[in-house]
Amino acid sequence: MRIILGVGGGIAAYKVASLLRLFTEAGHNVTVIPTEAAQRFVGTATWEALSGNPVSNSVFEAVDQVRHVRLGQEADLVVIAPATADLLARAAAGMADDLLTGSLLVTRAPVVFAPAMHTEMWQHPATAANVETLRRRGAVVLEPAVGRLTGTDTGPGRLPDPEIIYAAALKVFSGQAAPGARPLAGRTLTITAGGTREPLDPVRFLGNRSSGKQGVALAAAALEAGATVHFIAAHMDVPPPAGVELTLVETAEELREATLKLAQHSDALIMAAAVADFRPESVSETKVKKRDDGENPVITLTRNPDILVETVQQRRTLGSPAVIVGFAAETGDEDATPLAHGLRKLQRKGCDLLVLNRVGRSLVFGQDSTEITLLDAGGAEPETVKGTKVSVAQVVVQRVAEALSAAGKPA
Ligand code: CTP
Repeated sequence: MRIILGVGGGIAAYKVASLLRLFTEAGHNVTVIPTEAAQRFVGTATWEALSGNPVSNSVFEAVDQVRHVRLGQEADLVVIAPATADLLARAAAGMADDLLTGSLLVTRAPVVFAPAMHTEMWQHPATAANVETLRRRGAVVLEPAVGRLTGTDTGPGRLPDPEIIYAAALKVFSGQAAPGARPLAGRTLTITAGGTREPLDPVRFLGNRSSGKQGVALAAAALEAGATVHFIAAHMDVPPPAGVELTLVETAEELREATLKLAQHSDALIMAAAVADFRPESVSETKVKKRDDGENPVITLTRNPDILVETVQQRRTLGSPAVIVGFAAETGDEDATPLAHGLRKLQRKGCDLLVLNRVGRSLVFGQDSTEITLLDAGGAEPETVKGTKVSVAQVVVQRVAEALSAAGKPA
């Protein structure tokens, strides 16, 4: 979606760089409009580099494009952070004395204000009246966080954490978007992500290269489509997404327990986690030391349960989730191509859809771009999709939505 990120002139402007990254990493197209005062705190170059879009605050630049009208009309969502007392006052009064306030008057998209100011300013009747006016008009004005402010004082007035603003913004967007844009409204999805770690001793583990990026992209796409998301995260190189119900796990056994429990109450399960197939048979309570006699330790492995297969089995008795999606990382070998391995895996695991990734040392793991082939147990032709992990996630989520409506399960 197209987002205007309006930045007010407060010291908290620097925290908004993290908010911008959350939006861009989820694949949104963000135009940052700082006020003149905001540009004294964080320079234009930072916003341009992080957003990949030109940044200006003046209505007198690129006049031929009538930017205050075009940006406001094209936006799907406007987020203002930090919303200073001055900016709230100008917005409430309907002023249009710079590019940001002009865009605010033009847009009909949902607007979220994340205030930050000193407690006295927040509690002043003038600010309270402005907040009330904006809320009455349909804008969402978040409550500021309570805590240490710029000086030595503490109280309400801190900018809410970027993750909180991000989650609130997505919720506002999905709550107001047209039903067609929210094919998963009323649905609950469980998404697993990252790579499990199987302990060898208190300091060592067997792990894998999964970064968790694909799972995070799937969660963002599902949230945007209106779903409630249970996100089960094994080890990831990236932070978990905001706005999900988060369960942290480490081992395959912990992942199994959380998945079987949450899948029962979900409409769909997307098993994007890389699960270790084996774990050390015994875990040493103390650190394994080098031995003086030169003997090397031998690690005996034992099989982990196949969580995907167990969820398919559990569905036979409980009926849920209606749609189960597996992932397959295949290199291909002298026996068969990656596609042939994928088709066999789809059958063996019994899931409804299988997202096939071709992997190699530099392919897929940790990369932002990817190529997948969607295999369908219902017999649809395999569909190959190329793109970023975010755009691929949107296709997978769309297929889940279609499979749910084909299964005739009302939301
Ligand atoms: N999976 C699982 N439990 C396991 C292993 C894998 O639930 N113990 C899930 C993964 O989350 C993924 C799918 O099964 O959705 C396929 O994972 P993959 O590692 O490709 O398959 P394996 O069963 O490990 O098959 P193989 O090692 O034979 O390729």
